[in-house]
Amino acid sequence: MRRDIVHPGAGHLKYEIRQIVGFARSLSRWNVDIAWENIGDPVKKGESLPGWMKEIVRDAVTDDATYAYTDTEGSRETREFLAARANDRGGCRIGPDDIMFFNGLGDAVAKVFGFLKREARVLGPSPAYSTLSSAEAAHSGYEHLTYRLDPEHGWLPDMADVEMKVRYNDSVAGILLINPNNPTGAVYPECIIREFVRIAKTYRLFLVCDETYASIVYGGANTVALSGAIGEVPGLSLRSVSKEFPWPGARCGWIEAYNKDKDPVFAAYVRSLLDAKRLEVCSTSLPQIVIPRIMGDGRYPAHLARRAAMFGSRADEAAAAFEGIPGVKLVKPEGAFYASAVFSGGLPAEGRLPVSDPSLAAYIEEQVAGLAPDKRFAYWLLASTGICVVPLTGFVSDLPGFRFTLLETDDERRRWIFGSLAEACRTYLASV
Ligand SMILES: Cc1ncc(COP(=O)(O)O)c(C=O)c1O
Repeated sequence: MRRDIVHPGAGHLKYEIRQIVGFARSLSRWNVDIAWENIGDPVKKGESLPGWMKEIVRDAVTDDATYAYTDTEGSRETREFLAARANDRGGCRIGPDDIMFFNGLGDAVAKVFGFLKREARVLGPSPAYSTLSSAEAAHSGYEHLTYRLDPEHGWLPDMADVEMKVRYNDSVAGILLINPNNPTGAVYPECIIREFVRIAKTYRLFLVCDETYASIVYGGANTVALSGAIGEVPGLSLRSVSKEFPWPGARCGWIEAYNKDKDPVFAAYVRSLLDAKRLEVCSTSLPQIVIPRIMGDGRYPAHLARRAAMFGSRADEAAAAFEGIPGVKLVKPEGAFYASAVFSGGLPAEGRLPVSDPSLAAYIEEQVAGLAPDKRFAYWLLASTGICVVPLTGFVSDLPGFRFTLLETDDERRRWIFGSLAEACRTYLASV
């Protein structure tokens, strides 16, 4: 090529959650039956949407309006509905014009980071959901800047680390938090959210809070939405129907922008997100249009409560399976539907798991050469059990470990998955 056409951030576009799939599929030659524990799709894992929700969607399909474009920001009626709901949470008040729809939060994240000034960095958690960290890294062309989530303290953010990184790096213009968290399952208490707000206020930053899992909190955890704690600090909340209805295939998420009126630079930035969306006309209409009908239905609160309780009891099962394994730390999740196990004492460089077929074992030996220790574990785990997890180092983290889900709907299979994961940890650590 006459010119280099590759974006300087291209090398940062990593999504380990799906990258491991290619390797898992290569095991089909040995007829390995894969348990897909890598992807957070409740429907793929066997959850069915309640019949009443499907009826609402079915009715909407007969309505011509669902075949038309919406406003670029999204359906006005839905934005009014969501603004009222946000205001019911208390705290910072918003109107329909503070809400903007996207084709899933994946699309929103691409815009949030893609339209930030290149030199303006957003400090994010480690470990972190890869879409966010990769988008930030790709936008800047550098490694994602991170603060530490601490497995020894319930995966809470190390707030001293946050403040230190903000204080000594004036390119940091914003801080990202994910609450409830993917991949750790942690839920931040109000004091932590308030501490983020204090730091943002002190250093004149904006906050981005991914609240995809806001309605999946259990085990007695308490938290507060960003809007409830943000005061006058500029901020964005990212929300979606993907995990909550759950309807990930709808590709429907939205941003709530707080305190646009408090800072002209922030207001101009939010406007640029809308201008960028305008080039695409709008997001998919049908899922937006059914939001008020579904979320406003009298059965919705019970639906959310039932799911939260369901994930709460699965979190108990996972924690029980991992209890007392020397060298392995699993913090019981209190939100979302993931758990992350950390090999707190590290992993043996030459660890392996039993694989009965010698040709498969030889293939794995060849494939794991030079891999990060937890990726090596994940590959052996796949060959030995068929369970596909995501290595924790795939989530911008240097902690060796892996993330799995609480999504398996078949009770027996789920217990087998948790038990097999725990057993594999023991065996692998003892294998050398
Ligand atoms: C924390 C977090 N944010 C955003 C997303 C993306 O959601 P969407 O389906 O709306 O693109 C996910 C999906 O797993 C997620 O875990």
